[in-house]
Amino acid sequence: MALLRWTVGAVVLSLFLPGGLLPGGLLPEGTLREAGNPGVVRAQNETGKPPPASVRSGEQLAPFVATPMLVVEKMLEMAEVTARDAVYDLGSGDGRILLRAAEKYGAKAVGVEMDAHLVQESRRKARELNLEDLVTIVQGDLLQTNLKPATVVTIYLLPEATEKLRPLLERDLSPGARVVAHHARVPGWRAAREEAVRIGDNTHFVYLYRIPDAFQRN
Ligand SMILES: C[S@@+](CC[C@H](N)C(=O)[O-])C[C@H]1O[C@@H](n2cnc3c(N)ncnc32)[C@H](O)[C@@H]1O
Repeated sequence: MALLRWTVGAVVLSLFLPGGLLPGGLLPEGTLREAGNPGVVRAQNETGKPPPASVRSGEQLAPFVATPMLVVEKMLEMAEVTARDAVYDLGSGDGRILLRAAEKYGAKAVGVEMDAHLVQESRRKARELNLEDLVTIVQGDLLQTNLKPATVVTIYLLPEATEKLRPLLERDLSPGARVVAHHARVPGWRAAREEAVRIGDNTHFVYLYRIPDAFQRN
C-alpha cells in the first residue's frame, strides 16, 4: 500500500520539474516522491527502505531530479567557468554539475546536499573520477551555507525555494560572481542572459545572473 502511494506520488510530483520521469531527466533508481507534499522526498537505499530522518536537516526545498547533461554543459558555459572558479551547487543531487565543472574546467567545486544517500553517491563518483582534490560534498541545509567563497552558484530548485535563497545570495556573493539557475528564475533579479535547451519534448530554461548587476538598482 505504501509502495503504491509512493509510486503514485512519483508520477504526480514529476510534473513539478521538467524532465521528471522523462528521458534526460530520469529519476535515479531507488528514489521515490511522496504525494501530497512537494517538499517531501524519500530516497530509498538498496533494501527499499527510506533512510532514517536523522540523516536530514533543514527544509526539503525541492525533490531530487537530475539536470540533463546537455543543460549542465549549457549552465557551465554560460557562467564561463574556469580553473580559478569555486562552483557551488546548492542541492547538489548526484553531483553531476560539480563533477563536470571539475573535470572539464578544473574548477574547485562544492556541493551542499541534505540527502545522505545522494551525498554518498556523489562522493563515490568523485573518488572514481579522481576528482577528490577538487570536489567537496557537504551534507547539510543549503540555506545555512556560507557562500562567501563561491564565484559561481548553480541552482535547480522550486521557485519558492529560489525566493528563500535570494537574501543569502545577495548577502554573501562578491562582485564578479555568477548565479546560473535551471528552471526557476531568481525572483526580482535581472538576468544577463537566458537560454532554452530543447531535449525531446521538453524545453529547459537557464538564467544567468551577474553580481551585483542582477539586483543593484541604478
Ligand atoms: C532538483 S534537484 C537538483 C540536483 C542537482 N543540483 C542537479 O541540478 O542535477 C534538488 C536537490 O536539492 C536537494 N535539497 C532540497 N532541499 C535542500 C536543502 N534544504 N538543503 C540541501 N539540499 C536540499 C534535494 O535533495 C535534491 O537533491
